[in-house]
Amino acid sequence: MRFSAHDIAVEVIRAAGREKPADQALRDILKKHRELPPFDASAVSRAVFTYYRWHAWLRDERTVDARMRLSRRLAERFAANTIPHAELRAKAIPTWTSEVMEVSNEWVRSLQQEPTLWLRAKSGTSAALLQQLPGAEQGNSLPDALRFAGETDLFKTPEFHAGEFEIQDIASQAVGWFCAPKPGETWWDTCAGEGGKLLHLSDLMQNKGLIWASDRAEWRLKTLKRRTARAKAFNYRAAVWDGSAKLPTKTKFDGILVDAPCSGLGTWQRNPHARWTTTAKDVEELAAIQKQLLTNVANSLKPGGRLIFAVCTLTRNETVDVVDHFNATQSGFEPLPLPELQAHGRTFGKTPTVTFWPQDLGGNGMFIAGWRRKQT
Ligand SMILES: C[S@@+](CC[C@H](N)C(=O)[O-])C[C@H]1O[C@@H](n2cnc3c(N)ncnc32)[C@H](O)[C@@H]1O
Repeated sequence: MRFSAHDIAVEVIRAAGREKPADQALRDILKKHRELPPFDASAVSRAVFTYYRWHAWLRDERTVDARMRLSRRLAERFAANTIPHAELRAKAIPTWTSEVMEVSNEWVRSLQQEPTLWLRAKSGTSAALLQQLPGAEQGNSLPDALRFAGETDLFKTPEFHAGEFEIQDIASQAVGWFCAPKPGETWWDTCAGEGGKLLHLSDLMQNKGLIWASDRAEWRLKTLKRRTARAKAFNYRAAVWDGSAKLPTKTKFDGILVDAPCSGLGTWQRNPHARWTTTAKDVEELAAIQKQLLTNVANSLKPGGRLIFAVCTLTRNETVDVVDHFNATQSGFEPLPLPELQAHGRTFGKTPTVTFWPQDLGGNGMFIAGWRRKQT
């Protein structure tokens, strides 16, 4: 039996909930429908995410079909600029948001738009990739960053299998540039997950030196191993670490990246379902974990070593408050101005903390902070 993109989108919406985020339900269900042409698979994703982007407007409609139709009409009205700011602020995000962060009209409007798909070409190869990959476009952005607006299934392209590019959000790419690891250094990516930032660090290090990659979730590290093999990134060692004071190694590092678990409010454009499942309690709990992670790894830096903290969220608890806590409890560190980055005609960095809003780079919201361990 052949299913339409609409039927599959309905199946995803029915399967999604707090226990099963929509992006995961989407991945699982699309895997079952491998026969679906790439164009239709993108139509499923668009329909699902449009639904959750306009979720608070849909409650009076009785059926999923009717809600999906209304969400499409709302997206058209938004594109025609006929939905007032006040209505967007009241309905596009949960009410608790304004208690935990600065809510601007620009941010809320950015959340209602479809996100850009960003690629990161292997160092120095973006010009060649632009020629080879239909749909790849110059992004006027960070070095090696390309936008992708094509319909090709990127995972099936020979360039992807040859490790010539990764799909990586632009703000996540900025984190790698802010780490600025040098070939031959020793780094620790403490929350390496499936390796998005590790692959960038390895590329910037020209595969020379060593990166310890740890995560609490062993299954994520297994995916990381598959990705590193494809990208031909060999200068790493993986170890499970649960974030506790019992560290996986006694090594002293030139740099440590804590890409910490967070509430993810910076990803609400790309992943609108999370707006309706994340809570203010999550924000508090995750902020406590972030403080603990920084405290536990601080002594693993060499004197002069760099500590980079990154979260794809914008709440005060998980950004400036974490920085204040670290500064108040760790006398052996000084704030480190992050390297200067040029993107979208603007300069970022040169300060010890940087906040990217989705409207700045056309990517996730992200907060980054840097410190240097004082020479003793
Ligand atoms: C923001 S994600 C990391 C994304 C990854 N660095 C990348 O670029 O693809 C945060 C990661 O922290 C891990 N994590 C959650 N709690 C942790 C803890 N207490 N200790 C270590 N890792 C943890 C999660 O499994 C998740 O992979």
